[in-house]
Amino acid sequence: MNLYERIPNNVNLSEDKKLQRALEKWLPNYLDWWQQMGPDGFQQKDVYLRTAISVEPDGWANFDFVKMPDYRWGIFLKPAQPDAKIGFGDNYGQPAYQEVPGEFRNSLRRIIVTQGDTEPASVEQQRELGKTCPSLYDLRNLFQVNVEEGRHLWAMVYLLQRYFGRDGRDEADALLERRSGNPDKPRILEAFNQPCDDWLNFFCFTMFTDRDGKYQLSALAESGFEPLARTCQFMLTEEAHHMFVGDTGLNRVVKRTAQLMREGDVRELGGIPLDIIQKHINFWFSYSLDLFGGEISSNSADFFAAGLKGRYKEQEQYEDHIVAEQNFMMKVVEEEQLKDREVAMRNALNEVLRTEYVRDCEKGLARWNKTLADEGISERLFLPGSRFHRHVGEYAGHHFDIEGNLISAEEFEQRKAEWLPTIADREYVRSLMHPVVEPGKIANWIAPPATGIKGKPFEFEYVRL
Ligand SMILES: [Fe+2]
Ligand SMILES: [Fe+2]
Repeated sequence: MNLYERIPNNVNLSEDKKLQRALEKWLPNYLDWWQQMGPDGFQQKDVYLRTAISVEPDGWANFDFVKMPDYRWGIFLKPAQPDAKIGFGDNYGQPAYQEVPGEFRNSLRRIIVTQGDTEPASVEQQRELGKTCPSLYDLRNLFQVNVEEGRHLWAMVYLLQRYFGRDGRDEADALLERRSGNPDKPRILEAFNQPCDDWLNFFCFTMFTDRDGKYQLSALAESGFEPLARTCQFMLTEEAHHMFVGDTGLNRVVKRTAQLMREGDVRELGGIPLDIIQKHINFWFSYSLDLFGGEISSNSADFFAAGLKGRYKEQEQYEDHIVAEQNFMMKVVEEEQLKDREVAMRNALNEVLRTEYVRDCEKGLARWNKTLADEGISERLFLPGSRFHRHVGEYAGHHFDIEGNLISAEEFEQRKAEWLPTIADREYVRSLMHPVVEPGKIANWIAPPATGIKGKPFEFEYVRL
């Protein structure tokens, strides 16, 4: 097999015998994993997909019909900048790391493995969704997201195999062994073990959980370990579409719900009531907030000091890249009360990144609320307070209402059905999920998209069944 011909890349794979050998061993296992855990029931169908073929801004992707197992998962890094420097932390201004610095080897490997683990996890979570797609357009978008998450796994595996020797190869194998939601060998992060088995969950996942990915990748795109920075910079190009799928998907659900609200009872008319949409927002937003890690974190301080993980738009947004003196005020729970606490800024960087993320999510909410207003509906959707329903960090183990006020465990238990999807809510949503696969047709609970893909109309046959 001429590996480097099958794998589009700009990492000089044809010259790198060691990497070729590692990939040759890994590739059949990856393809097995894809067959077992990738989209169920559609492996032999032609799908109109985008494939990354270069890193040129104006011609990086090719659109054509492909069967998913034949997708050309490639390895692309943004081109290197001559004289790249470490952009923050204790070694600010020194030459960027081109190889893994020994003292940061474990931290870096952990960062890469944690990111890498999310990529196949999401494919596993979404593997049954194709069977209930609301349209061929949506089906194609699902598969686009899936193959690109597969490519992101490749991107992380490349870093592990190329820069971490034996342990890197073992970690690359382990990435194909864990399984989302499996109690014995779960994925590393909890949001990636939650079932994502209907399309409302899928749109929330791509809106909120993929958006966490954007912020993590952005922070790693600043990394002083240059191969990681350049890999993440290119992944962000693809990630934008995933969030588009979630953001516009939810907007279309909201639009349809609003139309049905004007006509009568949304449930009777077969739509998704606004309160169920709100509960799904609450669920996925809170789980996604957990992905940023603890509010007070010595890891975040260490990663920043070492120049491994920066802040969002570190170079563009900030002047002080050392951040040795600044402090950050946050709320913590002390003696069953919320109190202000000042912590060193470097220890608060998870919270700083989370705050950027929340601001970005708010823009989505504003778009959906505009849709409600345009449809003449006075109700509004909102983001829960960021202490609500948390399982990681300062607020884990305490209970908060939807606005973030501290409440008792009993009160939370009594009111949680108001805030989070109940089994009945989930069953109701699932009862609406019937496949619509005729070109140009759409399920009743969602509005069609404003435009199609790559200049094609909505009626285009995006997947040939
Ligand atoms: Fe990804
Ligand atoms: Fe993604």
